[in-house]
Amino acid sequence: MKNFEFYNPVKVIFGKDNYSKLPELLSPYNKIMLAFGKGSIKQNGIYDKIKSNLGNKAYVEFWGIEPNPTYETLIKAVEIVKNENVDFILAAGGGSVIDGVKFICAAVKYKDGGAWDIMAKSIKIKDALKFGTILTLPATGSEMNSNLVITHNGIGEKLAYSSPLLFPTFSILDPEAMYSLPDRQISNGVIDAFVHITEQYITYPVNAAVQDAWAFSLLKVLIDIGPKVLKDRTNYDENANLMWAATMALNGLLSAGVPTDWSTHYIGHELTAMYGLDHAVTLAIVLPGVLRVMKDYKKDKLLHFAQNVWNLNPEYPDEAIDKAIILTEEFFNSLGVKTKLSDYGIGEYGIDQICIRLDRKNYTRLGENKNISPDIVKQILLTVI
Ligand code: NZQ
Ligand code: ZN
Repeated sequence: MKNFEFYNPVKVIFGKDNYSKLPELLSPYNKIMLAFGKGSIKQNGIYDKIKSNLGNKAYVEFWGIEPNPTYETLIKAVEIVKNENVDFILAAGGGSVIDGVKFICAAVKYKDGGAWDIMAKSIKIKDALKFGTILTLPATGSEMNSNLVITHNGIGEKLAYSSPLLFPTFSILDPEAMYSLPDRQISNGVIDAFVHITEQYITYPVNAAVQDAWAFSLLKVLIDIGPKVLKDRTNYDENANLMWAATMALNGLLSAGVPTDWSTHYIGHELTAMYGLDHAVTLAIVLPGVLRVMKDYKKDKLLHFAQNVWNLNPEYPDEAIDKAIILTEEFFNSLGVKTKLSDYGIGEYGIDQICIRLDRKNYTRLGENKNISPDIVKQILLTVI
């Protein structure tokens, strides 16, 4: 196992009917901003639950943080936070609202230039506003990590960033909030969490038994409960298991002490920036290609995955690995997500553009071995055309 430091200060408040804890959670702050997406929380009643627990707390509302949140929208909130002397933001929504609020919190305190520089130049921020979250869509793990992904429409870029100053102070995880999710978002959540795990697990072995056991067990949980949640949308226990699995998939535990890949995510972000595909859809397309083309480098962990996740016989390693990749694709398809570029009207021209964009950003050494160049990305995408 590699050396590691693990730090995660997020207070997780999990379960039903926890909104009454808001007054105490918000008591240290004078004026809060409530930050939302485009309206789902009004339809499912969560907005009312939040409002009825605010008491006399001074607040402003900010609506309209969109899926794949944009710099253009968020920068408007930055001005409001400054003008209204907001000292805490409560984000209620999915990963996009939470990521958007992380950007606002960093940008408000950043004085050395334009706020987009934080993302574009990976600037190490020195201060950030505090924020909490109410999660309504399990997928990204943003509720318990310090990562964010923001799109700049003006220049057509989608970039990731991370800072230890951007962990939520608290996160309320309410499985009942999931009842109103469209099926598509449940499928997206299962796939996003699945690929978060494989990015941290299917690399090369470093004898990290704890992390490997967590990883394959979480994958089995997702394979088991994803279809159950889709079938019985208001089953509290299944929703709760999915929500906690997605949080555990990207809260730093799985990546502690092990190599990580993330090439599927880097390539996927380009697909979203260029074609607007849902984040999870891009991952479902790219992951099988990465596993096939990088098979020789990932062989030991792919075999571990085949044996432990898909119960395949390891005596014939090549067959087991190939079958495991097919079963993974079939699992994504069974959730209603298509896994070929052509299913989305993307062909060789699009593949070439993705390689050019990665090259331009110097993302030329992706993967745990830093050996995925744009040429290899092309090979990967040609296997899933
Ligand atoms: O905007 P509203 O009206 O709230 O509707 C949202 C949105 O349309 C809706 N929704 C959310 N909760 C709902 C609901 N509808 C009904 N009932 C509910 N309870 O779902 C739609 C999608 O929401 P979004 O937040 O975009 O989805 P998700 O959580 O999948 O977030 C995706 C974003 O997170 C980034 C992605 O790149 C993408 O931008 N990621 C963030 C990561 C992180 N911070 O660690 C890691 C991930 O790999 C990912 O890159
Ligand atoms: Zn993801």
